[in-house]
Amino acid sequence: MKAPILSFLAFAIPIFAAAGDGDWAAAYAKARTALAKLSNADKAALATGIGWEKGPCVGNIAAIAAIGFPELCLQDGPLGVRYAPGITAFPAGITTGSTWDTALMYARGNALGTESKALGVHVQLGPVGGPLGKIPEGGRNWEGFSNDPYLAGVAMAQTVAGMQAAGVQACAKHYIGNEQELNRASMSANIDDRTLHELYLWPFAEAVKANVTSVMCSYNKVGSAWSCESGSTITDILKNELDFQGWVVSDWGAQHTAVGSANAGMDMSMPGDGYGNNKFIWGAALISAVSSGQIAQSRLDDIALRILAGWYFLGQDASYPTVTGWSSWKSPTSSVPSVQGNHKTVARAIARDGIVLLKNEGNALPLNKPATLAVVGYDAILNPQGANACVDRKCDNGTLAMGWGSGTAQFPYLIAPLDAIKAQASTDGTVLTTSTSDSPSAGASAAASAATALVFINADSGEGYITVENNVGDRNNLDPWHNGNELVAAVAAVNKKTIVVIHSVGPLILESILALPSVVAVVWAGIPGQESGNGLVDILYGSTSPSGKLPFTIAKAASDYGTAVVPGDDSYPEGLFIDYRHFDKSAIAPRYEFGFGLSYTAFTYSNLSISPLSTATPSAGIAPGGLKSLFDIVATVSATITNNGTVAGAEVAQLYISLPASSAVPASPARQLRGFDKLSLKPGESGSVVFQVRRKDVSYWDVGSKSWVLPTSSFGVVVGASSRDGRLTGELA
Ligand code: NOJ
Repeated sequence: MKAPILSFLAFAIPIFAAAGDGDWAAAYAKARTALAKLSNADKAALATGIGWEKGPCVGNIAAIAAIGFPELCLQDGPLGVRYAPGITAFPAGITTGSTWDTALMYARGNALGTESKALGVHVQLGPVGGPLGKIPEGGRNWEGFSNDPYLAGVAMAQTVAGMQAAGVQACAKHYIGNEQELNRASMSANIDDRTLHELYLWPFAEAVKANVTSVMCSYNKVGSAWSCESGSTITDILKNELDFQGWVVSDWGAQHTAVGSANAGMDMSMPGDGYGNNKFIWGAALISAVSSGQIAQSRLDDIALRILAGWYFLGQDASYPTVTGWSSWKSPTSSVPSVQGNHKTVARAIARDGIVLLKNEGNALPLNKPATLAVVGYDAILNPQGANACVDRKCDNGTLAMGWGSGTAQFPYLIAPLDAIKAQASTDGTVLTTSTSDSPSAGASAAASAATALVFINADSGEGYITVENNVGDRNNLDPWHNGNELVAAVAAVNKKTIVVIHSVGPLILESILALPSVVAVVWAGIPGQESGNGLVDILYGSTSPSGKLPFTIAKAASDYGTAVVPGDDSYPEGLFIDYRHFDKSAIAPRYEFGFGLSYTAFTYSNLSISPLSTATPSAGIAPGGLKSLFDIVATVSATITNNGTVAGAEVAQLYISLPASSAVPASPARQLRGFDKLSLKPGESGSVVFQVRRKDVSYWDVGSKSWVLPTSSFGVVVGASSRDGRLTGELA
């Protein structure tokens, strides 16, 4: 495993690098030349999908021969090319987030983009920056990276950069406020301006900074307007304030009116025909609205320019592959060559390094050639009907390696935990006993005679057009599915060395499991994709020390989060205080805090160094248009990390910053993640972690002046192993 990882580390780019070497000015120059050859009918065709299931991809735009524009293919999704054969089914966003590894984020994005391009996909519908995940039960949180905007923002930027360097256009979705599945197409997200800027917009702003060429507006309303008809979020914020050069596409069926959407700044209608009912909201109606003056000619030109510019920006006008031999709606017509390359090494590295070790009493893990081992739970095996038996993964049968909905892809194969454990057991001479159902009594029988028992439990969620076991997208609760608590209790009653492995879309309430003295270890294995079992065995048997950290808080009770699925509109009353920001403010002790994760080795922190805050920093606000200077580095914080243990391992050091407690600064979270750095160290080895602090990272959004303001007094700085495990503290001034 080591060699391939080193080779894709070569892809590592600075944490805030922009995507590719694209040049927007050059792309716009080409787009303007092409635009001059287009009629209004051509321009409307560029803006309007040809209709649901009318082309091979989930979204298709007709070709325009006069300018060499091909039939444009837009395809899901965030973890692999949906419905296509011969692809890699990567770990989901949430497990990518829990690696806190920028090189792996980039490598995954690059592999995704490479596969998309080889299959003729021009626009890959990901990554996901919204839902951000403020509601732990939110059905689609697993498609995104973390509910912390900084971590999610870095992951968005790295993913976009990786995808677009491979040549495919990325699409940052869902913009904005689509935090739950319940009523997603009718509810309004009423987010105050500061919260919008400091939380929900943040990952999208990072994607824009990374030159993302497209953004998808969401199903919900924001304020009183439909998200795809919201001039304030699309034109004022995304296009003007953030200086987004690309185009905005509707989520499928999220467009409501021809004139309202155009004048708000939406640029492309998908799938075009109102999801197969032959009711095109644009197309001819867009042309006549321009003729009648309801939509300005300049707006139609801008729509076409933006779509063309994105295409030129990625160089897709030069010999781009076409969709050949596959379609979203039929089995492959010919044998389509695999596009996987060696991407399974990336998939396995993320499945492995995204694993978070939550508990490990008496060094129960790693396993060392155990003489006997019980493996218990339906989640340990492949769905007996096959990994892809349930369309869009609309079931929780067998091991959970993807949630459900449009954010899925076809598994080329799925290494189930039990398969990988069997291979290891045969090398080790371990006698396995198994119970591959969720029956507590059968589990107890299998576990009674074994020295150690591994119990597999899970919790699933997905997109709201599918209901699984009465969960309409969002989870009904934060408990393990299939009576997982009872399964663990039955095993723990007969086996003193019970190890729980969790595959879940987000946090679970673990209190009843942790209360059992026989539960000596707990492993959160996330949503790992096709390499599930292999990545898990790397950690369980210690060929790699666990290095993942939680991308969310695990609470003692669901009510501790202070946010939940709401029945009507959501006024976002919690404001900035989601996840750890809320636990800090309300002095609630979490079970496992944001950023937490154990290792098989131990790290010490020393030598905190904090540069002065750049004196070039203007204390005045950064107004719209001043975007670039927001990303200037204004301080550098560094520290030394030493591996004081006996095995090699990697540590994610985290930087938390507190805004000055001054009456001039509005009430703010006690601390916020503003940097992280992951370092691999051999036993006894030391290395430096370096955090580059940008102006935006130490500013707040001032609603009065509508600008980012950098306070002048001193900031609290903590460098540590989690949000509550500060090791070094200092001041930035
Ligand atoms: C709706 C989903 O919300 C979106 O994420 C997806 O890209 C489109 N459907 C197309 O499948």
